[in-house]
Amino acid sequence: MMSEEEGKNREEIPECSKTAVLVESRPLPEDTPQVKGYDFNRGVDYHELFGTYKHSGFQATNFGLAVEEINKMLDEREKPLGEGQDEYEEDEFIRRKNSCTIFLGYTSNMASCGVRESIRFLVQHKMVDCIVATAGGVEEDIIKCLGPTYIGKFELEGKELRDRGINRIGNLLVPNTNYCLFEDWLMPKLDAMLKEQEEKGIVWSPSKIIQRLGEEINNPESIYYWAAKNKIPVFSPALTDGSLGDMMYFHSFKNPGLIVDILSDLRRLNTMAVKAVSTGMIIIGGGLIKHHICNANLMRNGANFSVFLNTASEFDGSDSGARPDEAISWGKIRKDANPVKIYAEASLVFPLLVGETFARRFHQRASNP
Ligand SMILES: NC(=O)c1ccc[n+]([C@@H]2O[C@H](COP(=O)([O-])OP(=O)(O)OC[C@H]3O[C@@H](n4cnc5c(N)ncnc54)[C@H](O)[C@@H]3O)[C@@H](O)[C@H]2O)c1
Repeated sequence: MMSEEEGKNREEIPECSKTAVLVESRPLPEDTPQVKGYDFNRGVDYHELFGTYKHSGFQATNFGLAVEEINKMLDEREKPLGEGQDEYEEDEFIRRKNSCTIFLGYTSNMASCGVRESIRFLVQHKMVDCIVATAGGVEEDIIKCLGPTYIGKFELEGKELRDRGINRIGNLLVPNTNYCLFEDWLMPKLDAMLKEQEEKGIVWSPSKIIQRLGEEINNPESIYYWAAKNKIPVFSPALTDGSLGDMMYFHSFKNPGLIVDILSDLRRLNTMAVKAVSTGMIIIGGGLIKHHICNANLMRNGANFSVFLNTASEFDGSDSGARPDEAISWGKIRKDANPVKIYAEASLVFPLLVGETFARRFHQRASNP
């Protein structure tokens, strides 16, 4: 029992603190989901695990929302195209092929790492309609057909690698030999393109060059082999900013005169967005590829469905870091859309995203035709 002395010394909790800390809750809407993660007592079932992500919180929730957003694109894609739509478009690459035109964008390092194989799967099975990549994203895929890229370490010293003729991309290693093989492979193709420009009046644009490279590489491991075969256009307005540019620079001394037209590609890309019934944007990384796809969608008053996957933040005002809501302010995403941004490193997340959406549907269809 408390003594009289102790009772006197005991102070009441100040009323202002009590009300400040324990502000009375108003009820949340009844349908507000509760946080709950996966219970491994159910066994190790990755599909079940990913199914719990939406209600797990943080970036797991954004992953779950992105799966839903991509599945909406795929549902839309399955709706039949009205008869006769787009019948006047002569360019087979940009002709509307289904009810949701999916634009896939990725940074160069996605072709350097194993995400290349996930992208190749999508292109091989005609699951996307248009690609925007940077120069490295084109050449790294082609170069891998000529020589492998290796796993190294982030910590390997630049000076020592330079002495050994090895280039580092994060924790990947590419020997200089691969670029020499690329030069030997590419130069005769550039000669042929120049000849066609001079003799047949062909106007080469980045997408036409990439189509030609895809046809010439003739290797089913390549993204661009399938893009050329399946008539999926690949746009890369800064095609010279990579090894391809180095080769074009050397070529301009050996056999000058090749002209690359970027405006005709812009016309093709924007036309695809304008003519689409609905559009979906799946953008891995930031920079040029993100803006180029978003800007094309401005021409149709905004994309209907969007998933951004990148590590960038918005505090510096960069377009890379801009959340989808910023794109809504510009008219690049529709006001009534539910776009999703996952803040994550893509080599870890993109294959999982493909697995839970495109690939799952593809294999379900294959087993239940
Ligand atoms: N392998 C290469 O990376 C490579 C090779 C040759 C040339 N280049 C050239 O370098 C220039 C810049 O490259 P870029 O525009 O492709 O992109 P980038 O590498 O500059 O990346 C742009 C932004 O994308 C996001 N991002 C990049 N990698 C990510 C990842 N793994 N996960 C999540 N977010 C990620 C980051 O926010 C980053 O700031 C291009 O012109 C390209 O052609 C790159």
